[in-house]
Amino acid sequence: MNRKHQLQRITVYFVLSGIALFATAISTSLALQQSIDNPLTGNWAASSPSNDGYIRKAYFNLKQDGGTITGTIRATQFFYKIVKSTGGPDGFVLEASMPDGRTERKVTYEGKLIGNELQIGRRTRPDQPITFQTAQRVPDGEGAMPARVEPPTLRKVPYNGLAKSPPMGWNSWNKFAGRIDDATVRGIADAISKNGMKEAGYVYINIDDTWEAGRDAQGNILTNTKFPDMKALADYVHKKGLKLGIYSSPGPNTCAGYEGSYGHEEQDARTYAAWGIDYLKYDWCGARILYTDEEMPAIYQKMGEALLKTKRPIVYSLCQYGRQDVWKWGPDVGGNLWRTTGDIRDTWDSMTGIGFRQNELAEYAKPGHWNDPDMLEIGNGGMTDVEYRTHMSLWAMLAAPLLAGNDLRNMTPATIEVLTNKEVIAVDQDRIGKQGRQVWKSGEQEIWTRPLSGGATAVAIFNRGKEESKVTLKWEDLGLANKKTVRDLWLHQDIATAGPEYPVKVAGHGVVMLRVK
Ligand code: GLA
Repeated sequence: MNRKHQLQRITVYFVLSGIALFATAISTSLALQQSIDNPLTGNWAASSPSNDGYIRKAYFNLKQDGGTITGTIRATQFFYKIVKSTGGPDGFVLEASMPDGRTERKVTYEGKLIGNELQIGRRTRPDQPITFQTAQRVPDGEGAMPARVEPPTLRKVPYNGLAKSPPMGWNSWNKFAGRIDDATVRGIADAISKNGMKEAGYVYINIDDTWEAGRDAQGNILTNTKFPDMKALADYVHKKGLKLGIYSSPGPNTCAGYEGSYGHEEQDARTYAAWGIDYLKYDWCGARILYTDEEMPAIYQKMGEALLKTKRPIVYSLCQYGRQDVWKWGPDVGGNLWRTTGDIRDTWDSMTGIGFRQNELAEYAKPGHWNDPDMLEIGNGGMTDVEYRTHMSLWAMLAAPLLAGNDLRNMTPATIEVLTNKEVIAVDQDRIGKQGRQVWKSGEQEIWTRPLSGGATAVAIFNRGKEESKVTLKWEDLGLANKKTVRDLWLHQDIATAGPEYPVKVAGHGVVMLRVK
């Protein structure tokens, strides 16, 4: 190569580098200008304080383009797309939505930029003020939507042989929600084995949401500081002749935003088995960001198979709020019980709204496979003792799981009496496992009957009205003309009922429950 060529090369090199430098400078300054003009652009995370060492983050992945903000929001179990925005850094409102079954779930966030931080929040209830959180910039990609694993092909999961009668025990959610910990669970186990409940059949002590932490380097699920040693806790519960239940979600996050089993189904099932877990409540929640309702059976099948594979007897409880007619496919995916409704609350309206709506599902209940109208609220204080008796009686007529949801360490004698009525429990647990049905209704009064083993029948006369009411049973109409004995299951007395009719007085919101043979 001669000098002239060399010179030409050097010149070309310098010109090109100059252009490159210039271009970089322009694009940097453009980007700078962009971020000056659009300071909301970025990936922001807000951490929620918790008392258990698990940090839950909400992610706001925003792209500001002048007066328009687009992007996504990931918070607890949800992943929203921003569909509308107003305002800018000094104050903005974001409307976001996500598909959820047959509906669209919508949220509105409000926020503003303060220095380098984002103040952002939303109203959780219309009558409540906004709870603001502070969000910081985090690297792009953090909190991104996980990649979707295709659901498996449907195949029938063999029956695990469990829950021949509806499961009985206790669950932490209704009373304790996120305030459940190892010491409380031990206290509940102590109480249940001393207060007559264990003898009455309550055996499962079920920990609901908020026990989870993240995962270790091998992907093993970890417990948070509220549950320092799950295996030791299981041993403690087992020594009392009781069983331990746990909770998870097929999604990346649980309802409360804790770690779910997504992508770790078999690994988690193995962990539960190694800990000595006897029952799993598997709650759809976070799975809705990845899967449609139509895909539920395949997703539930995955855990059904994983549990079977552990060879440990683990009752499998499906919790997906009765969507997609779960009663039709629950048994096929290995389910022993399936929630038929949204969450129960400790009110008369909630309890009766759920309980009396179960009539059409009667044919789907059978030994090993139960409709689950949600856990009991008995003793939580929102209803009267009369109403709690109605709750207990209705759940027994429905062959529903009996999972107490109150603080068993601290109960009134009336609460214990309602929860441990052995004659009512015997109806719930009856061997033939046939769910009761409504056979008569007039105004606010209803009669339900349930066929029992040995040719007996349970009859419940419900008064949904506020005032005491008289109902006349016509034995012939109930198909019970040949009855020999009638026993009142709350009075614990045989009663004389000569003649074709039997008039009963039922207290407002009350029940009379009979066993007829
Ligand atoms: C859902 C379930 C509840 C409870 C909570 C926990 O709402 O339906 O029973 O498990 O999640 O976060």
